[in-house]
This record gives sequence, structure tokens and C-alpha cells, in this order.
Amino acid sequence: MMILSIQPALVLSFAFAASLVRAQYDAALVGTWTTKSKKVMTGPGFYDPVNDNLIEPELAGISYSFTSDGYYEEAYYRAISNPTTPHCPSAIMQWQHGTYSLPGNGSLVLTPIGVDGRQLTSSPCSYDNAIYIRYEQPELMKSYEVLTDPFHNVPRLNLYKFDGSPIQPMYLAASPPQMLPTQTLNPTSVPSATGKRRVKRTDGGDGDSDQERLGPLNKNTVKTKVPSKESYNPDHWWWAGVGLTALGTVMYMMPTSL
Ligand SMILES: *[C@@H]1O[C@H](CO)[C@@H](O)[C@H](O)[C@H]1NC(C)=O
Repeated sequence: MMILSIQPALVLSFAFAASLVRAQYDAALVGTWTTKSKKVMTGPGFYDPVNDNLIEPELAGISYSFTSDGYYEEAYYRAISNPTTPHCPSAIMQWQHGTYSLPGNGSLVLTPIGVDGRQLTSSPCSYDNAIYIRYEQPELMKSYEVLTDPFHNVPRLNLYKFDGSPIQPMYLAASPPQMLPTQTLNPTSVPSATGKRRVKRTDGGDGDSDQERLGPLNKNTVKTKVPSKESYNPDHWWWAGVGLTALGTVMYMMPTSL
């Protein structure tokens, strides 16, 4: 009799504990989100950690992925127009991953793994070098919301920066998320020798335009502050295999009219 009355209490307390663990994250955030060009996606199509290369998408855009257990990845590819050379915008690619937390006040806090982030910039008209460096930028999203986009009828993520200004809306593109392994890919920060970039250059755009051409990113690239490939630990390639397996994801069909 005693045992019978205790068991439900135990079950309830386990269920309560489990719900507390789940409550740290928000199932609505889980997946890979991308802006309407749909050409920028987190995962191995954007950053190749084996060759330590950023891979240029066809069009500008941004992408964020979130897991159900606190990991995130982000990919940015943007044109940066310069008023003095409007015909010749610079291009920038940024990639980071790490952990995120929801402190409970509506904000979303992103903490990158510092040694892994990468940035590639080019200013084709002002100088010939593209610059490839390590990149680390923690982010505070003041708030976020996931809603069903009323026009496209797909889940949509609105992120608001630390100052409350909105980031371009993103739409759910894959669930579970399409991501590289969430552990540290480059455990050391040994600078490597200067080397040429091999970036395939196609058309770039500002997110809304398919037409804008950007200059090549791969001319005489200076590569700095990036860990050498020799520092890779074979153990991490096991995780890479896990990540690629996870790529067998459900791709959501987004309407072509996005
Ligand atoms: C929420 O909490 C985090 C962490 O304490 C803080 O950095 C952030 O500014 C807070 N957000 C708001 C909207 O107050």
C-alpha cells in the first residue's frame, strides 16, 4: 500500500524533472532557418572544416540552426555596399558555432566556440586581397519569435538584435537541423602559414537581388590566425561522420514564391 502510493509520486517527480530539463530550450527553435534566397544554409555546404574553407553560396543570405540540447550554428554571406564605390560592394562570409541559452527573460544568448569561427572578406575594387581570419562574436538576441508565416504558410523565425532591431526573417528549411559536428572542430589556435584561398566564385547578391555580381574573393588571399590542419584530432572525424549521417534530414519544401 505504501509502495503503491509512493510510486505515482516518484513518477510525477521524474516527469517534473524531465520537463524542467526540456524547459531550458524551446522546441519551436529547433531546425535550420534561412532567409528567402534559400542559398545560405549552415552545415558542410557552407564551411568545410577538413580543408578549412568557406564555400561561397550562389546568393547572399543568412542561416541559423538550433538543436534541442543547446547547440547552434550560424552562416552569414552578405554584400557590404560602400557609398564611394556603389558598383563594387565588398563581400563577407562569417561562420560560427557554439552553445546557446535561454535565460528566461525572452532573450537568446549565443556563445561561440572561439577557435572555430571563420570570416572571409573581400573588397575587390580597393585592394586585391581577400582576408581569411578567425572570427568570434558572441551574440545577444534581445528576443525571438517563431510563428507561421501568414503568406507562405511555413514556420518563420524573427530574431531581434541586442538593441531590438530585427534581423531578416528566416524560414524553416530543415528539421532536424543541418549542422556540422557541434563539438570543437579546431581545438588549438596555432596560426598557419599564409596560403591561397580556393573559393569558387559565382554570383553574389544582397539577399533580394539575384543580379548583382561581386568581385572574386580568391585573388591573392592572405590567410591569417587560422589553426593549421595538422592540429586536427582524428577523433573529431568520427563526429564529422555523425554530422553527415544527421544530414539525412527532412527537407521542408518551401514555396518557390518566397
Ligand atoms: C536577459 O538576460 C541576459 C542574461 O542575463 C541579459 O544579457 C539580457 O540583457 C537580458 N535581456 C533583456 C531583454 O533584459
